[in-house]
Amino acid sequence: MQHLKPCQGLSQLFLIRSQSSRISKGIIPLLSVWDRHLSSRWRSSGGHGGQKFFNNNGQKFRFALAGLLAGTGAVLAYKLHQSKVQWAASSVQLPVTSAPPVYTLEEVTKHRSLDNGVWVTYKGEVYDITEFVSMHPGGDKILLAAGGALEPYWALYAVHKEEHVLEILSEYKIGVLNPESLKRQESTDPLDPYSGEPNRHPALQINSLKPFNAEPPASVLADSYITPSAIFFKRNHLPVPKVDPETYRLEIEGLPSGVVSVTLSELKSCFPKRTITATLQCAGNRRSEMNKVKQVKGLNWGIAAISNATWSGASLRDVLIHYGFTPEVAINAKHVQFEGLDKDVTGTAYGASIPLNKAISEEGDVLLAYEMNGEDLPPDHGYPVRVVVPGVVGARNVKWLGRIVVSDEESKSHWQQNDYKGFSPGTDWDTVDFKSAPAIQELPIQSAVTHPAEGTSVERGDQEVTVKGYAWSGGGREVVRVDVSIDGGNAWHVAKLRSSDLEQNPAPGRAWAWKLWEIDVPLPDAAKELEIVCKAVDNSYNTQPDTVAPIWNLRGVLSNAWHRVKVKVKDDLKDQI
Ligand code: MTE
Repeated sequence: MQHLKPCQGLSQLFLIRSQSSRISKGIIPLLSVWDRHLSSRWRSSGGHGGQKFFNNNGQKFRFALAGLLAGTGAVLAYKLHQSKVQWAASSVQLPVTSAPPVYTLEEVTKHRSLDNGVWVTYKGEVYDITEFVSMHPGGDKILLAAGGALEPYWALYAVHKEEHVLEILSEYKIGVLNPESLKRQESTDPLDPYSGEPNRHPALQINSLKPFNAEPPASVLADSYITPSAIFFKRNHLPVPKVDPETYRLEIEGLPSGVVSVTLSELKSCFPKRTITATLQCAGNRRSEMNKVKQVKGLNWGIAAISNATWSGASLRDVLIHYGFTPEVAINAKHVQFEGLDKDVTGTAYGASIPLNKAISEEGDVLLAYEMNGEDLPPDHGYPVRVVVPGVVGARNVKWLGRIVVSDEESKSHWQQNDYKGFSPGTDWDTVDFKSAPAIQELPIQSAVTHPAEGTSVERGDQEVTVKGYAWSGGGREVVRVDVSIDGGNAWHVAKLRSSDLEQNPAPGRAWAWKLWEIDVPLPDAAKELEIVCKAVDNSYNTQPDTVAPIWNLRGVLSNAWHRVKVKVKDDLKDQI
């Protein structure tokens, strides 16, 4: 086993945990006070409708209430009550200051934790709400708004905009935003959780804007072995979280050393930096071809929800061993779960898991990556840390990684349990049982033609057609051959595989990167149209199915039939005269 540099100061979380449980005990009654308060409001204002809402949705509502900032109202309401009592008792007027301190957005953004203070803005005013966050059981949810505007969160629950809540908020006012910061903040829609998303390359073909999902144009995909980060396909289920590298912590649980919390600089300095070249592919790549057979649910990806990059970071194996992984741990634990820092409105994070043996194996090459193509991870690709699980479906490569849990169970997340699974073409939404199928991990063999494009034409006078594309297989299986036909699959030609010098001879079982391929095929004399087809073969002699229909499935995943592209053969102008 390799020796790791000693790493000082890796903080245990026990203290934080016990503090928060002390805080919760004192505060839980406040939440139920608020719950009762709301119940009676609904009853009095909404009549039967309100009552029915509570009967049917009480559980859901309480969850939402305890979730996203809902408790803000609870604590503010409680504080209002307290302050009114105190005010009545003392009749003391609060001092009024005429020139409040002025802050920049950057100063506000620095205050995103209990340690540094929790600041928020509302309508251009700055509030220090540290005190009430520390009093509140839903404090971790309130922290979603920390360092930024309250409006997007309050927009979800209009009840918080009530006058008495705003009155209490005013007690926490510490100043105002400077005009330039205010303008910047207002230039994005504060009610939109996607308003702070990163800038994206205009060449990307957008499948969905919010959340952002896009693929590069197929025509440029095979231009370079390493896909430039700016056009690497982007697959986000939720808004891109803004993560401060200074306060970033990666929590690791389920090992004998208890809960540990690792900083970004510890991850970078305490573990050897390793680099791999690996292709990521979304389970839904080429879904649009399934849609042509029968409509499926999901984004209509073309052939470019796949890209190849170099990834650098700490090996997950090194990190787990450092924090106490031993073969004894594997007697019970079978999975490693990952949780992202991107959360939905209920505060539920994106999550996934992989088998423990992939995570811990020396040949598994799983990375806690902090660099992509030699630079910090871009925001869209998981800044500051993501897990890269080479050979495994994109969905398990969790971005904005916040938590790792070594466990006897798979991740309970929706995306592990009720999505990214394959089914029979005969299974429909009435009969599907997500529990009956395993979560997709290693992906099957794949290839596609990137040039020429569907619907274009080639010149007969050129006498041959140049066909280009990519090929890749999951699980580290190496692509050993790509067969190309230009007559729909009657006559076949073997394409030339291009890989970088670096990846010329990948270690057996560790072929994580795609192969780009190319071939010049002679044009048949009389052909008016070509049906270009490709299929790849990996070193286990797996190959692709010839048509889509037999592998069609209701989620449109694992779409890897022979890729077919139709192009016209144009007679040269001089021949036509
Ligand atoms: N991780 C988080 N935290 N949130 C996400 O939405 N999407 C997953 C995975 N990791 C996702 C995530 C999916 S479905 C895919 S295909 C890959 O990220 C896409 O990675 P990319 O956007 O870097 O190409």
